[in-house]
Order: sequence, then C-alpha cells, then structure tokens
Amino acid sequence: MKKILITGGAGFIGSHLVRLFVHKYPDYFITNLDALTYAGNLENLTDIENSPNYTFVKGDITDESFVEALFEEKKFDAVIHLAAESHVDRSILDPMSFVKTNVLGTGVLLNAAKKNWTDLTNKLFYHVSTDEVYGSLGEVGFFTETTPYDPRSPYSASKAASDHLVRAYHHTYNLPVVVSNCSNNYGSHQFPEKLLPLMINNIVHSKPLPVYGKGENVRDWLWVEDHARAIDVIFHKGITGETYNIGGFNEWKNIDIVHLLCRIMDKKLNRAEGESEKLITYVKDRAGHDKRYAIDATKLENELGWSPSLQFEEGLDKTIDWYLANETWISRITSGSYKQYYDQQYTKR
Ligand code: NAD
Ligand code: TYD
Repeated sequence: MKKILITGGAGFIGSHLVRLFVHKYPDYFITNLDALTYAGNLENLTDIENSPNYTFVKGDITDESFVEALFEEKKFDAVIHLAAESHVDRSILDPMSFVKTNVLGTGVLLNAAKKNWTDLTNKLFYHVSTDEVYGSLGEVGFFTETTPYDPRSPYSASKAASDHLVRAYHHTYNLPVVVSNCSNNYGSHQFPEKLLPLMINNIVHSKPLPVYGKGENVRDWLWVEDHARAIDVIFHKGITGETYNIGGFNEWKNIDIVHLLCRIMDKKLNRAEGESEKLITYVKDRAGHDKRYAIDATKLENELGWSPSLQFEEGLDKTIDWYLANETWISRITSGSYKQYYDQQYTKR
C-alpha cells in the first residue's frame, strides 16, 4: 500500500485532490495534514471522512518536531504539498505569514522527507505551485516551463522561494521531486475571498461587486477538478526533476467574467435582465496588480496526455449551482473572521 501525505487537503484544491485519490486509489493510504487556518474546512471532506484509506491529522507544516515525528510514524512514500497561504490580497496585508508557511513550511517538509527517505526508490515529493511565480505578461505571449521567475507580490515571491527550495533539494540531495505551476482555479468549495466565489456570493446578497482598477486584468481559468486530474497524471507519469505547467488556454478579462456571472445569475435567480450588473463597482486597484497571466500547457498535453475536461461556461454553470445549493457552507464561512477581513479589504476602498 502506497502511503501518501497530502498537505493542505482541507482547502479548496486540496479537498478536491484528496477526494479524487481516496476514491480512485483504494490501495493508497492518504494522510491529510492541515492546520485548519481560516481557509481550511473539514466540511469540504465530510463525504469521505470515514473512508478506510483516509485519515486527517491537524497540524502546522512549520512545526519541525511535529512534522518529523509524523514522517517517522507514518513512513510516507510520497508527499503532495499544497498547504499554503494562498491569497494575494492577504499577502499584501500580512506578508510574513506567507514567508512562514510557504517558505519555512516547505523547507520543513523537504527536510523531513530528506531525513526519512534513506532509500529514495519509489519516493516522490510533489510540490503544487502557481503560474504567478513567472510574473506578469503584456498583451501577448504565454508562460512556459522555461520562463524566468519574476514574482511580484509577497504571495508569488513566497511560492517562488518554495519552488526554488524544492529544486535545490533535488539538485543537492537527489530528492525525487516534481513541480507543477497552475493557472487560476475555480470551482466548488473555494473560499469567498477569491474573485469568482466573492462575486457569486455578493450577487446572491445584492452587495456591490468590487472590480479592481478598470477590470482589464486578465487571468487564465481552470476548473479545479481538472487541476486535480492533472496532479494525478503528473504524480503517476511525470518525470522526476521536471516542471509541468497546468492551464486550459482560457483567458478572461476580470470585467468580462463579472458581466458573464451577472447575466447567468440574473436568470438563475429570476431577476430582471441587467439587475445584477448594476452592482458592479470599480474600486481602487490592488497594489502591484499583475496585468495578465496565461499558461502554455503544451508540455503536459503532449508528454503526459492531459487535457481539460470542461469548457469554461459549463464549469461556471456547475460552480454557480454549487454555491446556490450550499448556502449554509458559505454563510458559515462568511460569519467568522471573514467579515473583519472583508471590511478591512473593501470598506472605503
Ligand atoms: P486554500 O487557501 O484554499 O487552502 C490552503 C490550505 O492550506 C488550507 O486548508 C489551510 O488550512 C492549509 N494551511 C495553511 N497554512 C498551513 C500550515 N502552516 N500548516 C498546515 N496547513 C496549512 O488554497 P488553494 O487555493 O486550495 O491552494 C492550494 C495550493 O495550490 C497552494 O499551494 C497554492 O499556492 C496552489 N495554487 C492555487 C491556485 C488557485 O487558483 N487557488 C492556483 C495554482 C496553485
Ligand atoms: P484572485 O481571485 O484574488 O486571484 P489572483 O490574484 O491570484 O489572480 O483575483 C483574480 C483577479 O480578480 C485579479 O486580477 C484581481 C481581481 N479581483 C477583483 O477585481 N476584485 C476582487 O474583489 C478580487 C478578490 C479580485
């Protein structure tokens, strides 16, 4: 039985990945290590919490003695590392927590793997990262696996540092690693601080829709379950030491996405056409706001045979339906510290 540690499995992408692995690989044993920060939520995994090939461990990846003891006890064969502070706006408010979790935490996990894996056969440290490490694109071009790193927010800088550490452990200690850098994800269970769930939630409650700057910034959107499928493919077929970019060639200007959401939701909520669009409010731009991200995922498609399964409109439709059907999930999340964050971020912006 393969013993796999997934970190950050109670978060957005991690919970989709845990669910996929628990269902698809009954002969693997999955340990989900998560500190349950504001972004971690065990409600995301109630459907699989009693599966015989799954266990949850609450803990902080920056706690060195705890992580090392866990490695000694569980004898992991592989790590898929997703735990992170993940939101750019929060990294602007509090950069040090990003340095701590994303840089130090990754270092602690790498060290524990290095110490425990005296025999490196059939071992793998898979690091899940972001396209934001490559910086910001102009009107044309794509990020490829060889694009030089140019991170520009505290979030992307901390992820870039963690990517470098992972590759350094490969080159220096032969630790078997693989890294993937993915574009913006959307789908169910995403914390409503990110663009899509925030806008969906605000449309439901007829609250202002805060578009940063002129809404001209471009992001490349991928359905979260397609990201989880890509991680599965790379985990099993990827070449050690390699990097794979993940994306769906699906670029959208923020303002166009917000308009699209408004149109779809007017219909779903039986509102008059154009009603939700009246909520659009242009607010002060994000500091250092990256203009455009766009991923070239040709390597992953050609070498490992992955491609996205869903068109954006279909994925968006499923996502909106999930949020509309899970009002209790979202209202529990937005009733805690979220309110304080929201006020700090958006009041008088
Ligand atoms: P998320 O914020 O939804 O989840 C992060 C999880 O990590 C949470 O469950 C949280 O409790 C946990 N965590 C945070 N600090 C921890 C710590 N110190 N110890 C243990 N657990 C801790 O994030 P997400 O959007 O699911 O992103 C997951 C990973 O994927 C991150 O590494 C992120 O950089 C990367 N990524 C995200 C996207 C995206 O669009 N969301 C795109 C590409 C890559
Ligand atoms: P976000 O979901 O935070 O992802 P990232 O910054 O990591 O790409 O933001 C996506 C885009 O949406 C980004 O260009 C910033 C913009 N944005 C808004 O215009 N308003 C908002 O309230 C948020 C959260 C984001």
